[in-house]
Amino acid sequence: MTEKKGLIAYETQYGSVADVAYWLKALIGIENHVDVKKYNQIIAVEPYDYVIIGGYTRWEKPHKTTYDFIERFHDELAKKELAYFLTCGEIDETLVMYMPGRPVHQTGGRSYFMDVLKKFPKLKPVTIRAFGGRQVNRFLNRWDSVTIRLLQKTAPPYKIGWTGLDMWESLVPERVEAFANDIRTKILSLPPQKDVANYRGFWKSLQPGNLTDKSKDKLSTRPWTATRSEKRGYSTRLRIKATIDTTASLLEDWAKQNGMELKEENKTFYNKYFIATKKYNGGKALSVHIVIAEVIEDPGNTHIALNCYAKPAIREGAEEDIKKAGTLLQDEGRKID
Ligand SMILES: Cc1cc2nc3c(=O)[nH]c(=O)nc-3n(C[C@H](O)[C@H](O)[C@H](O)COP(=O)(O)O)c2cc1C
Repeated sequence: MTEKKGLIAYETQYGSVADVAYWLKALIGIENHVDVKKYNQIIAVEPYDYVIIGGYTRWEKPHKTTYDFIERFHDELAKKELAYFLTCGEIDETLVMYMPGRPVHQTGGRSYFMDVLKKFPKLKPVTIRAFGGRQVNRFLNRWDSVTIRLLQKTAPPYKIGWTGLDMWESLVPERVEAFANDIRTKILSLPPQKDVANYRGFWKSLQPGNLTDKSKDKLSTRPWTATRSEKRGYSTRLRIKATIDTTASLLEDWAKQNGMELKEENKTFYNKYFIATKKYNGGKALSVHIVIAEVIEDPGNTHIALNCYAKPAIREGAEEDIKKAGTLLQDEGRKID
């Protein structure tokens, strides 16, 4: 078999994507031909059999540099085997974003690619993953630093995860390793790399900051299971021992039992988004936004988030229904603490 030639095309602002790009090269196998180049170092993609495109996130999408790179080589890329990855702060793929004045939409992790997938339908990546990243706040440029400080004022820390901290690190090594093994098995027909953990040194970094520095206030990972009751909404996030399909059929049972209309809003290869609607006390119908997702670092389990974006005075019935969903989903030994 002739050897396939690969290109990892990337852009970084603060270094996370660069660290990951060389880590991926090592995991894919230094015996294979893989060039690692920043977008602006690339003058042609023709010489390659496959291209891995890696960017960082800004405002719930890959940064403009990734769009520009794809547009520049679009027709050639359409003929290649492709893979996409992102670094980001938010790694939770059960998230739905509610902001007054904007449609409710899925966000976080791979959901940041939805716009790219819609915009460039001729490009068909064989794998997509979002890894998380690293940010040291004192190292941000002036513009980013002002923006982050403004966000800090408006959003509670648990929501954003990167406000009020000296630094945060959200990268999940298993996601990087799974992505590299996707490339090995799906593109290169190689066996998966078994001793993946030996390569994590590619991510460990002493500059511009690191998580062992005790003087710094750092991001603590949000709990997988949590219920929040706020002025703007009520939400429950949990995980259970079940597949996505079993979880979806449990939700259908829950909807039937409680007189809710359940509609599948969106389906990807890693999650499903449903909206359950019901009229409470003869009033206006309320919606419960539900996302169920598989999580590579928590194999065999499905993560679920249920959210009702309504004020406390009118959402009592929906809260009760969300609690009932939690009980049903966790029944019959599916509960994980
Ligand atoms: C102004 C600004 C906006 C950002 N927006 C998002 C976002 O919408 N979602 C997210 O998950 N991360 C967001 N991030 C975090 C970056 O995507 C993350 O730090 C990324 O890993 C940076 O990659 P780099 O170190 O290669 O530059 C944002 C960061 C900044 C500074």
